[in-house]
Amino acid sequence: MPVPSTPAPMVFTLNPLGPTAAEITGLDCARPMAPEALRALKRAYLTYPVLIFRDQVLSAPELAAFGRLFGPLETYQRPTADAHRPPLACLRQSDARTTPDQMLFLHPEDSSVLVMTNEALPDLAAIAVVDNAECWHSDASHKAEPYQAIAVYVLQNPASGGDTEFCDLRRIYEALPAADRKLLAGLTAAHHWSKSLNPRFAGALDDTARQEGGRIAATIPQAHQPVVRTHPETGRPALYLSPRFTLSIDGAAPDASQAILDELFALMDDPRYCYRHRWRDRDLMIWDNCCLNHRVRGYPANDVRRRHRITIGGDRPYYRAA
Ligand SMILES: [Fe+2]
Repeated sequence: MPVPSTPAPMVFTLNPLGPTAAEITGLDCARPMAPEALRALKRAYLTYPVLIFRDQVLSAPELAAFGRLFGPLETYQRPTADAHRPPLACLRQSDARTTPDQMLFLHPEDSSVLVMTNEALPDLAAIAVVDNAECWHSDASHKAEPYQAIAVYVLQNPASGGDTEFCDLRRIYEALPAADRKLLAGLTAAHHWSKSLNPRFAGALDDTARQEGGRIAATIPQAHQPVVRTHPETGRPALYLSPRFTLSIDGAAPDASQAILDELFALMDDPRYCYRHRWRDRDLMIWDNCCLNHRVRGYPANDVRRRHRITIGGDRPYYRAA
């Protein structure tokens, strides 16, 4: 497809949907963006870490070009024939699931775009499984250098359900009593992908999931992340914890660690700190993975929820006292 030479108009309309999210209208994200529009967009993004663009028509390369406006994209390799890949059901815990696992497939047109869906797509190369997306998490916080941002473009929504909820970890941190903020500042916590290591899941795994969790635990190191994370661009502090990936607070006795985490995780369910997005087809969204947790709300496993997804690479999280 030829790339249009005329930049998209500079002016767009920002419609705040609360303190965490804003809807942008008047911008065609498939077209190159004028520098003034991009600067205004990035200012909006640093205030509203969820930005939604309605009614977009984007090819996979156009989605990737949009993502590169925000930073370098992660790229993905086709798995080798002998690479271990967990089958769809392998990580599934035995109860309390409200969303089906989603598979990530390489997009044939662009190595930075993944097709994320709960369908079987036998013609595409599957590279990973997203399980337990209904549990609060920040993508890849179990890696030393987690993603800075995620963008998704909706191809198909289920007829009901499948909303994504975002929890604003800046606002939770700022609402904590000063003594709690002081207690948490400078602490670190262990994060890991394996549910076998996570006391919130370990007791609810079936045998297959326990074996797979053990394999993952033995092959991937823990990441130790700041409990309070300084935003790399704004300097604004936010909690950096999630029930899906955070195992424990480093240096704390197990009971004390879990009690602190329980209290903080409970705040994530408080609607005052959340934005819930009801998706429409052709929605484009980018969210700041440094200061938000997200989760997918339930939808029927026999319906389809399909997106194109890109991830913008990030640096090692840190805490810096104000
Ligand atoms: Fe996620």
